Amino acid sequence: MQSLTPSNPSFFIAGIPVYGNRILAPMDGYSDQPFRSVVRKLGSAMIYTEFINALEIVWRNKKFARRCLFSETERPVAIQIFDDNPIRLTASAISIVEQFSPDMIDINMGCSVNHVANRGAGAGLLQNPKKVGAIIANLTHELNIPITAKIRLGWDQDSINYLEVGKQIEGNGASMIALHARTKAQMFKGSIDLDAIANLKQTLTIPVLGNGDLTTNAEIENMLSYTKCDAVLIGRIAIKNPWIFAGYDFEEVPLSLYLSTVREHFSAMVDFFGPDRGCVGFRKFAKKYLTNKGIGKAKVRNLLTTADPSLFAEKFETLLQWIEAGNRDYDLE
Ligand SMILES: Cc1cc2nc3c(=O)[nH]c(=O)nc-3n(C[C@H](O)[C@H](O)[C@H](O)COP(=O)(O)O)c2cc1C
Repeated sequence: MQSLTPSNPSFFIAGIPVYGNRILAPMDGYSDQPFRSVVRKLGSAMIYTEFINALEIVWRNKKFARRCLFSETERPVAIQIFDDNPIRLTASAISIVEQFSPDMIDINMGCSVNHVANRGAGAGLLQNPKKVGAIIANLTHELNIPITAKIRLGWDQDSINYLEVGKQIEGNGASMIALHARTKAQMFKGSIDLDAIANLKQTLTIPVLGNGDLTTNAEIENMLSYTKCDAVLIGRIAIKNPWIFAGYDFEEVPLSLYLSTVREHFSAMVDFFGPDRGCVGFRKFAKKYLTNKGIGKAKVRNLLTTADPSLFAEKFETLLQWIEAGNRDYDLE
């Protein structure tokens, strides 16, 4: 496998060296521990967890605490939390640091989902830059690990304020900022504002990560060179092509690497979640892995509706062998 990991750090987050400039974006429902481990091994230069509701930590909800678990090989690890309440955010961050010892805490200020943003959390915080500053000040005062934040351009086109928010974040002691270069109102629509990433990078001295719509090596290299951002966050395309972290566009991934990664991912899911939840959780990845290799919809559906974990594993392996053998037809019963 080719490697993009340089021998010298690409940048530092408050003294923590980061080797490389491609990083898996946090994705609820996808960037769980097994997927992160696979992607980190392929070359993601650090790790963000899925976002975690601060309330769940304060209430000590075991299911959510599980989302904080990570393996040592994933470091540097940022555990991401969200809330609209500064006191709960700090209390949950302290509790997370005591229980899980991440390398940093990231605050989600970009989630556009209505039930998060409309209550003032996630991108809802962008409507109140002073509150953003107070949240970061509280956290940097109470914790002795780096605090980082992930933001959007602003709430909507009429209230673009990423520079003001960025200055509040840096000015109150945060150590890195990631910008998904769209507004909350845009959700995932419309084009990415590369100039905004470049402006933020020029304005701040802490590392700036650019994010949004990257799907190929060429697009990644363009965002890095055009904006001069320190690294990029890569989200949705990583679900189809985790090998992007090793520098491969999907069509270029060597078959042996494709097969070893996919097998490793499946077995990591079963190890981490157990056979039942592991297979169910793997379905959404299997769908992408297989359809993008030309496996027909009917066969994929047959696999995805298989409830028994051993049978699922057997059918999945059959399809991989089919791909390995050059798409000779097999029937799944
Ligand atoms: C399914 C899904 C879940 C996401 N969950 C999170 C999350 O937990 N925390 C976060 O900061 N962003 C989250 N995001 C946003 C991504 O981190 C990223 O900003 C966005 O997808 C744009 O990058 P992309 O175009 O490379 O996908 C999520 C995005 C998707 C598609």
